[in-house]
Amino acid sequence: MVQLSFVFQTLLLSLGPLLAAASPLQSRGMGVTQYKSSRYMSNLPQNTTHLSFDTETGELTAYDITHRVLSKHTYSPNTTSANSRRQSTVGSCAAMVNSDVQKLPGYQALLADANSLLGAHSWTDLAKSVNSPDNRYPQYPASICTDLDTDTVTVTASGPPTCSIQKESTSGVLVGTSGSVTLSSTQGTSYSVTSTVIQTSSLAVGDSFSVKVSFPGDEEQNTFSVTSTYTNSLSTATQSTDNQQSTESVTMVAGAGQTCSLQYTTTSCSVTGTGTIRAAATGWAWFEYNNGKTHWALNMDYFLTLDQRSSYISLRSGITSSTLSSYTGKCQ
Ligand SMILES: *[C@@H]1O[C@H](CO)[C@@H](O)[C@H](O)[C@H]1NC(C)=O
Ligand SMILES: *[C@@H]1O[C@H](CO)[C@@H](O)[C@H](O)[C@H]1NC(C)=O
Repeated sequence: MVQLSFVFQTLLLSLGPLLAAASPLQSRGMGVTQYKSSRYMSNLPQNTTHLSFDTETGELTAYDITHRVLSKHTYSPNTTSANSRRQSTVGSCAAMVNSDVQKLPGYQALLADANSLLGAHSWTDLAKSVNSPDNRYPQYPASICTDLDTDTVTVTASGPPTCSIQKESTSGVLVGTSGSVTLSSTQGTSYSVTSTVIQTSSLAVGDSFSVKVSFPGDEEQNTFSVTSTYTNSLSTATQSTDNQQSTESVTMVAGAGQTCSLQYTTTSCSVTGTGTIRAAATGWAWFEYNNGKTHWALNMDYFLTLDQRSSYISLRSGITSSTLSSYTGKCQ
């Protein structure tokens, strides 16, 4: 049977404890001595919290939270101009551009950190974010992702499932002189899931994300899950199906001239609900000061809580299931 509730298992970013209180320049997601590395570390020391890139010498420097230099690298940014967003990236992550970074709930906090951390050391002018063109620092990008293994969003159905049970029969087969007939029975459940985007994330509009939708089973049904791709635009419907039915042959022995058939039961259920997909920003928010010579990147995973870097996509979903069972043979 269909469950009263079902689960959207998004492949989302790490769900660290959501600690609310944090003073500037401390990781808002973790304790002050703990480091949260970005997924885009590419040869950087694990406790790197920010980077600088000297656009004249091509030197990339990694720092820890105390602004101690951890390492220096020669780095070639992507000089190909890319003024438009990478379109409709299908996958769990999409590139964020400048305007996306600025729409993060925690952007003002990040900007304050950038000014307090970097301004105090090197610059006097206010920072402005420069995550554009988005592929300029391909090894140290800002991305918005739904692909976290750890997050499970439970969607409660808006009501109990509606089910109907029907008794059905296969068409009859005439028994020949051999005295037996072979009939086929299809048993098990097929599922169909339709989801419609009812609220888009303000970030990465038009991009597509893969999300794993999973439905827990009970004693009678096995758990199944469907991976679907959702586009972050309103009213986009996505349909996924999963067929867990199998067909077996049934041989029946009966007198010649009789007609044999199989009686079985079809149970159809449907239920609807809504679910929310969290899309979380990860990676490096790039800034420059007014003189433009040096670019700075802050590790968003370190400086922002998950909520401060999250945005949500809401779905209305319906699941229907059809279960074929209880086969009995009849010859007459
Ligand atoms: C970061 O790591 C480096 C190298 O292991 C170490 O020297 C430095 O003290 C660390 N920084 C902090 C703030 O823990
Ligand atoms: C550099 O940017 C261009 C334009 O966006 C992109 O097509 C290319 O893949 C980028 N190169 C790298 C190494 O990411």
